[in-house]
Amino acid sequence: KRLLPMTAIFGLILAGCGREDLSVLRPQGPAAESSLGLMKLSIAIMVVVLLIVFSIAAYVIIRFRRKPGQQEIPKQVEGNFKLEVLWTVIPLILVVVLAVPTVKAVFAAGNDHANDKNAIKVKVTGHQFWWEFEYTDYGVKTAQDLVIPKGKDIAFELTTADVLHSFWVPSLSGKIDTNPAGTINRFSFSAPNEGVYRGKCAELCGPSHGLMEFKVKSVSEDAFEQWIASMKSPVAVLPEDPELAKTFKNQCLKCHAIGDQGLAVGPNLTGIGSREAIAGILLNDDTGVDGAPIEENLKTWLHDPQSVKPGNLMPNPKDLGLSDAEIDGIAAYLANYTLD
Ligand code: CUA
Repeated sequence: KRLLPMTAIFGLILAGCGREDLSVLRPQGPAAESSLGLMKLSIAIMVVVLLIVFSIAAYVIIRFRRKPGQQEIPKQVEGNFKLEVLWTVIPLILVVVLAVPTVKAVFAAGNDHANDKNAIKVKVTGHQFWWEFEYTDYGVKTAQDLVIPKGKDIAFELTTADVLHSFWVPSLSGKIDTNPAGTINRFSFSAPNEGVYRGKCAELCGPSHGLMEFKVKSVSEDAFEQWIASMKSPVAVLPEDPELAKTFKNQCLKCHAIGDQGLAVGPNLTGIGSREAIAGILLNDDTGVDGAPIEENLKTWLHDPQSVKPGNLMPNPKDLGLSDAEIDGIAAYLANYTLD
């Protein structure tokens, strides 16, 4: 009876592994490939050890089992020097076989490209429950969508604005913590192909830890330069309707920034209409297959942010005095606020 739910759970876990954009088993870059190589090596060694040990155990159990009518105690053996040397040396060899490539990979992963002039520098700040990305060489700040040029090394500098988080893009790299009190961690990865990869927070950080997702968008170098250029364009595009523009400025821009206006306490909203998801988890999908059109997602978020991400710091716009019509108006405006 227990077998069925167990199989179902195992099946679900395996189904999760199958997602190309979120799987350590389908690496999309050198860092993740190196991790998978180590996993394969240790699993191979484990399988060989398991087969040998289980075969010997099965043989011994069958060969030396008590036979019918057998009364006497078999010959007792105490200590065997050769055998003891053998089962000490074999594990030692296995540990060395595991350790050499692991140490090599750890040192390779330790290259943070911090002083590499060709690397793209990105400062990552974890917040409950969203991610801030600052391109220090370009003076560009954004949230939730990390846009990178394919094939280039990205030199990350990571910290947090509140509690511990951990930055993880399973198909591209290992995890690295974001630590408080000005502690900065550094690491680097690159994505050789264009694509969108899912990133996750991998350190329990509060009620919406499991929803603290982001996207890595690997694009061509031209597309990246173009993205930087449009993000740098300083003039904020406010809602056309003057009343709505006033509400947006007086309420939303108290915490958020667009272009040259507002405060970047909350996620920067410049070009939010071009993002892959709202709040990192509501996928913007015009066909409605994997998600919903962006305007719907923005409405879902703005009408009740707590129901989407419990414990987040965004106040409910209704509590700030915004009417349903105003909230819908702001959702429509943000959905159309794309980068050219
Ligand atoms: Cu942030 Cu878990």
